[in-house]
Amino acid sequence: MTSDNTETVVNDSETASKQESETANTESGNHILVVYFSATGTTKGIAETIAAVTGADIYEIKAAQEYTSVDLDYGDSNSRTSKEQNDSSVRPEIGSETISLDGYDTIYIGYPIWWGEEPRIMDTFVENYDFDGITMIPFCTSGGSGVGRSDKNLADHAGSGNWLKGERLSGSASESDIENWINSLK
Ligand SMILES: Cc1cc2nc3c(=O)[nH]c(=O)nc-3n(C[C@H](O)[C@H](O)[C@H](O)COP(=O)(O)O)c2cc1C
Repeated sequence: MTSDNTETVVNDSETASKQESETANTESGNHILVVYFSATGTTKGIAETIAAVTGADIYEIKAAQEYTSVDLDYGDSNSRTSKEQNDSSVRPEIGSETISLDGYDTIYIGYPIWWGEEPRIMDTFVENYDFDGITMIPFCTSGGSGVGRSDKNLADHAGSGNWLKGERLSGSASESDIENWINSLK
């Protein structure tokens, strides 16, 4: 009997805290989400800084089949990423749970540049969601290449959302570099 009661209390408090956080998301006016894909952690670091600076929620696009260092070998024309980037129709499967975009009006969407473009898994993501009424802000990291046509590709594949010009950020960009960029968008 005692343990039954304890269990009920625990369950109630879990439910209450879930409801509180859901309510907080809409009532606090936090309507910003950072979505990112990162194979080796560079874009992840930038995404986390953007989320910290803006107070946004954050969502990671994870590949159902994780990219290994062999997959990422761009010196090998037969590696998984070389083959994917050579075929614009490839759509690698996403392994992370789907996310509801309800309540978000601004999404920062980040990725590494692969062969001058967005990784194909980004196309999988944007084709799976409806961004109607949402301002989409692409950002990327790279070894030096610019955004190229990746931002336009994503907008075209998405077919919805108000897409801003993308920004290439250095993997070592400081919090103030990132703040300056965000402020320049206003
Ligand atoms: C398959 C592959 C292709 C890449 N192609 C480019 C490229 O065309 N231009 C460039 O500047 N960097 C290129 N890079 C480097 C990445 O864009 C860079 O290291 C990025 O910051 C990695 O981000 P991540 O750690 O979030 O995955 C490539 C990396 C990989 C693995």
